[in-house]
Amino acid sequence: MKKRLFSGIQPTGEVHIGNYLGAIKNWASLLDSYECIFSIVDYHAITVPQDPKAMPQQILHVATVNIAAGLDPKRSIIFLQSQVPEHTELAWIFHTLTPLGHLERMTQFKDKARQHRENINAGLFSYPILQAADILLYKAEVVPVGEDQVQHIELAREITRKFNARYGNLFPEPQELLSTAPRIMGLDGKTKMSKSLNNYISLTESPEDIWKKLSVAVTDENRKKRSDPGNPENCNVYSLHKHFSSPEEIDWSANGCRTAGIGCLECKKCLSDNIVRELKPIREKALALFEDPAYVVEVLKSGAERCQEMARQTMREVKEAIGLRVSAKRR
Ligand code: TRP
Repeated sequence: MKKRLFSGIQPTGEVHIGNYLGAIKNWASLLDSYECIFSIVDYHAITVPQDPKAMPQQILHVATVNIAAGLDPKRSIIFLQSQVPEHTELAWIFHTLTPLGHLERMTQFKDKARQHRENINAGLFSYPILQAADILLYKAEVVPVGEDQVQHIELAREITRKFNARYGNLFPEPQELLSTAPRIMGLDGKTKMSKSLNNYISLTESPEDIWKKLSVAVTDENRKKRSDPGNPENCNVYSLHKHFSSPEEIDWSANGCRTAGIGCLECKKCLSDNIVRELKPIREKALALFEDPAYVVEVLKSGAERCQEMARQTMREVKEAIGLRVSAKRR
């Protein structure tokens, strides 16, 4: 029996090579080893302000690009969180088991509260409880996430232990599966690649735009002139080579940089060609799927149906364990 795996994807716009290298590519390689469930977590997304007019498009875009990049709906389940209401139902029960103090310690909450001072809502605070419900609703044991989510998975384990201790063993303790890809820096070379900072290359970027963005990407800032030798370890273009280029090209880039044998533009051109080549099939598939939104809507719908069946079963067990199922039968 394969173990069940669950992960969540925020529907917040463009999907970029940071998401691809840090998550999607790794997930795609797990499809046959685990029973995989991926959720577009729209209820998490609305804990920060979203534009209701843009949301449906964003959800479909993110679902489409993830499918194009390797989340094959034939070998996994992909669904929209809000289409399975049991997520919020179980989250409520978990609220009653979660100490406030633990939520206050969450670094993601502290960061987001700082970024959205005008809207520090209760949902932002209890976000990790909903995340625990996502995972445990399906009794998933494996959760592939980045470093920044480990604290949330620890809280999910804690909620599991509390539930099991109080109401009987119902849930397995979920484990994080950390991606081996280091955090992908943005083209500014300073901060994590992210949509909001506009320092990214999206998975559906045209070859021209990939080159346009790369040609102005920040390299080793001590290499001011073509004749200055540089340090590849301080260069984000070099670190991207490590993900997209052949071992020979990676050596060529490092040596050429150290000896000033090649210029940054030459180095970037090679990287650009390699990124274009790797993204080509993803882009083609995504562009084709953009023309067929009905297919993606159907994938989400049938995913939600399969999930809801499992979710209903778990909720029956949960209510039974808590003593919330009444019946007219005399005991
Ligand atoms: N919080 C996760 C993130 O920001 C997304 C997420 C929601 C998630 N529910 C989840 C990840 C359940 C793993 C499991 O990336």
